[in-house]
Amino acid sequence: MAMMTCRSLLLLLLISLFVSFGFAEIRFTEIRSDVRPIIPFDEFGFTHNGRLELNLSQIDLSDKNLDLNKIGFFLCTRDTWFHVLEQLNDHHVTCALDSELVKVVFRFESLKGKTSVNAVFPVNNADQYTLLFANCLSQVKVSMTVRSAMYNLEGKQNSRDYLSAGKTILPRVYFLLSLVYFSLAGIWVYFLYKKRLTVFRIHFFMLAVIVLKAFNLVFEAEDKSYIKRTGSAHGWDVLFYIFSFLKGIMLFTLIVLIGTGWSFLKPYLQDKEKKVLMIVIPLQVVANIAQVVIDEASPFGQDRVTWKQLFLLVDVICCCAVLFPIVWSIKNLREAARTDGKAAVNLMKLTLFRQYYVVVICYIYFTRVVVYALETITSYKYLWTAVLAGELATLAFYVFTGYKFKPEAHNPYFAIDDEEEEAAAEQLKLEDEFEL
Ligand SMILES: *[C@@H]1O[C@H](CO)[C@@H](O)[C@H](O)[C@H]1NC(C)=O
Repeated sequence: MAMMTCRSLLLLLLISLFVSFGFAEIRFTEIRSDVRPIIPFDEFGFTHNGRLELNLSQIDLSDKNLDLNKIGFFLCTRDTWFHVLEQLNDHHVTCALDSELVKVVFRFESLKGKTSVNAVFPVNNADQYTLLFANCLSQVKVSMTVRSAMYNLEGKQNSRDYLSAGKTILPRVYFLLSLVYFSLAGIWVYFLYKKRLTVFRIHFFMLAVIVLKAFNLVFEAEDKSYIKRTGSAHGWDVLFYIFSFLKGIMLFTLIVLIGTGWSFLKPYLQDKEKKVLMIVIPLQVVANIAQVVIDEASPFGQDRVTWKQLFLLVDVICCCAVLFPIVWSIKNLREAARTDGKAAVNLMKLTLFRQYYVVVICYIYFTRVVVYALETITSYKYLWTAVLAGELATLAFYVFTGYKFKPEAHNPYFAIDDEEEEAAAEQLKLEDEFEL
C-alpha cells in the first residue's frame, strides 16, 4: 500500500520540477565570455508603480565593431514570450529585441564604449515580467557583472517593496500563523499539565515540534519583511534556515515515532524502525541543504535545477519512508486483534492508526502536490494563497495529530466493557470476510 502511494507521488512531484518562483531580491550575476543567445535573469510581479534598476559593470565584448543594437536587456511576460518565440520561428523578427511585444530596457548601442552603466526603467503595466538578456550576434562573447533590482513603489512616501506583487503580504501571513502556533503550544502545555499522569515522552516531543514550527514562522516572517524593505536578507535567513532544519528533522522523526507507536504502545523501537529513522534523518539534512541552495540561487541557474531534483528525490524518499512504520503498526495490530482476546482495544488502535495513515498521506499530497499545482495555476497576484493553503494544511495536520494522540486521563485503550468487546470482535470478523 505504501509502495503505490509513493509511485504516484513521485510522478506528480516530477511535474512540479519545472515550476520555479524566486523571491526577486537584489541579485548579482557574473557573466563571463558567454555566447548564449538568451539569458534569463529574474522574475518579478510588478504593480502599476514598478521599477527595474540595472547596474552593469566590467562590460567586455569580444567584438565591438558590430551592430550592438542586437545586444541588450528586455522585459517580457510569460505569455508574450511564447508569441516572441513564434515570431522568431516565422522569421517575422530576427532578434527578440526587435519584437514590438517586449519592453526593451537597454541596448548595448547606447554604451558608446563605456564599460559600465546604471539605468532605472519604470514599469507601469501591472504584470509578472521576466528580465532577459538577448545576444543576437552569435559570434560575440559577452562578459559583464550585472546587478538587477526590481521593486514596486508603495504608499505616499513611495517606499520600495522588493517582494513580488503576489508575495508582498507573506510576512504578515507568516507572522499571524506563528501566533497561532504559539497559542497551540500554550494550549498543549496546559493539557500536559492537566493530564500529567498520562503524559508520555512523545507528548514533549510534540511540544518541541510546535515550538520549533512557531519560531520557524517568526523568522520566516522577519526574513521576508527584511527582503521586502531592503532587497536582501541581512542574516535573518540564517536563523530561518536553522529553525527550518530543526523543525524538518523533528517533524519527520515525530511522524515515524507516532507511526511506530513508540512510548504509548511500546517503550522501545524495533530494529527496522530504527533503520527508518537512520534513513530519514540524514536525508532531511540533505533536503535542508538543498532547500537553502535552491532559495539562494537565481531562479534560472543551472545548479538550481540539479539541487531541485535532488531535493525532490530526497523528499519523496523521506515521505515514503515515514509511511512504512505506520503500515507495520497497522499489520501488527490486526494480527494482535485476531490472536488476542482484546479485539476491541486493538480495533480502536487499528482505526486510529488507519486514520493516521490516511492523514499523513493527505498532508504529504497537499503540501507537495496541491500546493505546487496552486502555484502554477493561480495568477501571480495571488501567489500567497498557495503558501497559505500549504500552511493551513500543515496546521490541520498538527491539530489532528495533537488531538488524536493527546494524553488522556480515561484512556479508551485500557478500559472497555464486555459489550463493546463483543461488538468489536464481530466487526473484525466482518472486516476479514470483506477482505477475502
Ligand atoms: C544603480 O543604478 C541606479 C540608477 O542610476 C543608482 O541610483 C544606484 O545607486 C546604482 N546602484 C549601484 C549599487 O551602483
